[in-house]
Order: sequence, then C-alpha cells, then structure tokens
Amino acid sequence: MVRHFLKDDDITAAEQAEILRRALELKKAPYSVRPFEGPKTVALIFDKTSTRTRVSFAVGVADLGGVPLIIDSQSSQMGAKESVADTAKVLGRQVAQIVWRTYAHEGLEEMAANAGVPVINSLSDDYHPCQILADLLTIKEHKGELAGLKIAYVGDAANNMANSYLLGCALAGMNVAVAGPTGYQPASQIVARAEQIAKATGGSVEVVAEPVAAITGADVVVTDTWISMGQESEKAQRLADFAGFTIDADLMTHAKPDAIFMHCLPAYRGYEVSAEVIDGPQSVIWDEAENRLHAQKALMAWLAQH
Ligand code: CP
Ligand code: NVA
Repeated sequence: MVRHFLKDDDITAAEQAEILRRALELKKAPYSVRPFEGPKTVALIFDKTSTRTRVSFAVGVADLGGVPLIIDSQSSQMGAKESVADTAKVLGRQVAQIVWRTYAHEGLEEMAANAGVPVINSLSDDYHPCQILADLLTIKEHKGELAGLKIAYVGDAANNMANSYLLGCALAGMNVAVAGPTGYQPASQIVARAEQIAKATGGSVEVVAEPVAAITGADVVVTDTWISMGQESEKAQRLADFAGFTIDADLMTHAKPDAIFMHCLPAYRGYEVSAEVIDGPQSVIWDEAENRLHAQKALMAWLAQH
C-alpha cells in the first residue's frame, strides 16, 4: 500500500520519531541518501503562493538525486478544466511523488486515492504537516527531547497551523496549549483527535481563551498570521477580532525564561508578534525555516521506502 502524508497523524509516533532522526542525519550529511537517483522526478504543485515550501522542496528533491518539477496550477489544466482524479492518474504514471499546496483538504485525498505514488500535503486550508515536522526538528535541536515539553500556540487557533500543532505535537508526546479569540478556536473533532493521540503518547491538549493561560510555563511559544491565504477579504474584521493576541515581550515573560519562539513565516510584525520578540534572542525562526529542507528530505526518503 502506498503511504501518503496529508495530515500529521498519517504517520505513527514511532514513524514521526524515525523521520526526525533521519532528518538530523541528513542535516549532517546532505547528499548521503539518494532515493530519486535516476534521476526520478517529483511534482511540486502550487495553487497558493510560497517561498519556503517551493525552495525547500525543490532543493530537497535535487539533494536526494531527483528533479523537481514545479507546476503552477494556474497555468496547467488542473482545476476548472480537468479533475483532480484525472490529473493524479497522469502524474502518477510519470513522477515518483506528488507534493501539493492547495485549498480544500479533500482535493489531496482525491489525489492520493488516484495517483498510485506518495502524495505530500505542502499546506491545505486545514493542515500544514510538513511545517510541523520542521518545527519538531527545531525544538529537538534546541531542547533535546520533545516528550513532556509544553508548546503554546497563540493566535488563529482555527487555522491549518493550529490544527497541525494539535495533532503533530500531541503525536510527539508534547503538552499542547492553544489560545484563540472567540470564533477562532479549533474544531471539536480536531481537539478530540489530538486528545486521543495525547492519551496514547503521554502528551496533553488544552484549549484556552487567554494568551497568558496558554503561555504560562511554556518551553516553546508559536504563532502564525491572523489572515491565512484565501482569507484576505476578512482582513479588517480579523485585525479587530485578534486585538490583544499579539505575542510581545510582556507576554513572553510568562513562558519559561529559556523558552524559544517560532513562527512558520511569513510574519507580520506588529500584528501576531512584535518585532522585539521575533527578532530577539529567544527567536529561532531561521533555524526553523532551514529545517523545512532537512525534515522534508527525510519525509520524502522515508516515503520512497514505504
Ligand atoms: N511556512 C511556509 O510554508 O512558507 P511559504 O508559504 O513561504 O512556503
Ligand atoms: N496559515 C498560513 C500559513 C502560511 C505558511 C496560511 O495558510 O496562509
């Protein structure tokens, strides 16, 4: 059976740990694993804009011996002219893996059901699991073990990053606390699934309304934009609704003194995070951005073997 990585819990806790272990190895020896030797081609499809994802997957495929084929869906037949299922069947005959950044998560499921090769979600409206692998790798490098650490997410707790932190960090055995304003809380089925995962891994899940409650005692503090791709028309409303949720130096005093700050980027200084925090000594955002490359290489190499 072909394995896919569409959301954080498509892999087991042991598989997640194995991928992170391999990522650390690949970071030390970038050209030591060559699953795409041939060279084989990996399709990288983008329905939304990207800097980090595009670069890290293109470099990662090349490092693994393959050729990245970047497809801007606007200039392809995909979408209005041709179904996802038909596109999947065409691509699956020619490429080794498919990486897709899209809107509705169901599209990824249709691609995976029809491609016959591994499909990786490089961001959907609901999840951003590759980012969480990079974040876990970054936390591991800075803190050692993941299990038992507290991670606090403050901001849009109903978006793709919040969902993926809930599932992916619970899978790593972490204590996940999320805080979002009324109307921006995670869906109950995501929380229930995260709680179920946490029960098995020894982690925990907490959803609160106040940023201070989430951040208190945290080892890792994270946030994301208040306006995700596709939500641009809601900007004015969202800026009003998120008042009081900016991660600034005052709020950071509630975290552990050695807490690290992360952000998937792009960041909007003065909104979800102050410049003082994101550009300050606790911020590890550049390690985090680099780790997209190493984590995704480990993921692609692992999928090539399963
Ligand atoms: N963090 C992230 O996915 O960045 P891009 O949107 O630039 O790919
Ligand atoms: N939540 C953001 C993440 C960007 C990497 C978005 O979906 O736009």
